[in-house]
Amino acid sequence: MYPLRRNRRLRTNEVIRSLVRETIITPNDFLVPLFIVEGKGIKEEITSMPNYFRFSLDVLENEVKTLWSLGLKSVLLFVKVPDNLKDNKGTEALNPNGLMQQSIKTVKNVCPEMLVMTDVALDPYSIYGHDGIVKNGKIINDDTAEFLAEMSVSHAQAGANFVAPSDMMDGRILTIREALEDEGFTDTGIMSYSAKYASAFYGPFRDALDSAPVDLVNVPKNKKTYQMDFANRHEALRETKMDIEEGADIVMVKPGMAYLDIVRDVKNKFDIPVAVYQVSGEYAMIKAAAEKGWLDHDQIMMETTIAFKRAGADIIASYFAKDIVKLIS
Ligand code: PBG
Repeated sequence: MYPLRRNRRLRTNEVIRSLVRETIITPNDFLVPLFIVEGKGIKEEITSMPNYFRFSLDVLENEVKTLWSLGLKSVLLFVKVPDNLKDNKGTEALNPNGLMQQSIKTVKNVCPEMLVMTDVALDPYSIYGHDGIVKNGKIINDDTAEFLAEMSVSHAQAGANFVAPSDMMDGRILTIREALEDEGFTDTGIMSYSAKYASAFYGPFRDALDSAPVDLVNVPKNKKTYQMDFANRHEALRETKMDIEEGADIVMVKPGMAYLDIVRDVKNKFDIPVAVYQVSGEYAMIKAAAEKGWLDHDQIMMETTIAFKRAGADIIASYFAKDIVKLIS
């Protein structure tokens, strides 16, 4: 074949490289996670997530306008709940004037077209830092699913376009779908965290929301009884298949960088949109190495992001979304 076929010909310069490039990133690819706190005038940096912030509602307004002006049109909301509002059942999550419900309304007020997705899980509301209700040392599945359905309806009532259950309880997609239908929210979508692994990469996120599992007798110290074992691959397809059958509109693989094989498997097997989440620990790792001068921040950011899309992701939840869009514009 050689020298008739010289593969390097197509890499001679940036013009030809860009002509044959297979994967490109646009602002439409991103879902921007946002952390919201109570208070006024607050924009506090998350220690383990440099240059990423928690916003109070008033500051959130400006942030949302900035995102929209950059072409970032979808957000994923997370709230940091004060300790005095936490309990085992996540009662505060159903408060129609709770922080999540207010956040949804705030975003919709300043930017009605912004697509609002909300995190649905108990951990930010749980005194135990678990995604479900804890009983006798276990995370109770079915009662939690029922609660998540109520929570989803509450988010839909506040104006959310999509709910994003991140809890990994069995059967919760069907329970949520039925509740939304019963309440008339036929247009509210579900983005399911379908293949979510029990990962140490979530560490900085749990700092951001103060939501780590607590160290108490009779409370599991980790999330391994509901999040997936990171050694497993076929199981991801089983989880995803069930969520699609139960009514998920979008499925997600999480974390990102260490799970590109799963993204590709899911993309090849199913015909609905696939999201990937480049999680807090991945962000922190890149920031830390860049701060030390050991890696080039922008290049690593682009390389990892392109890799998600190349692996088959249609949607990328990323803390780098703003930086990337500024870089490519
Ligand atoms: C909680 C939730 C987590 C993340 C999103 N939703 C953490 C966890 O499951 O413990 C992680 C996001 C990140 O690390 O960036 N249900």
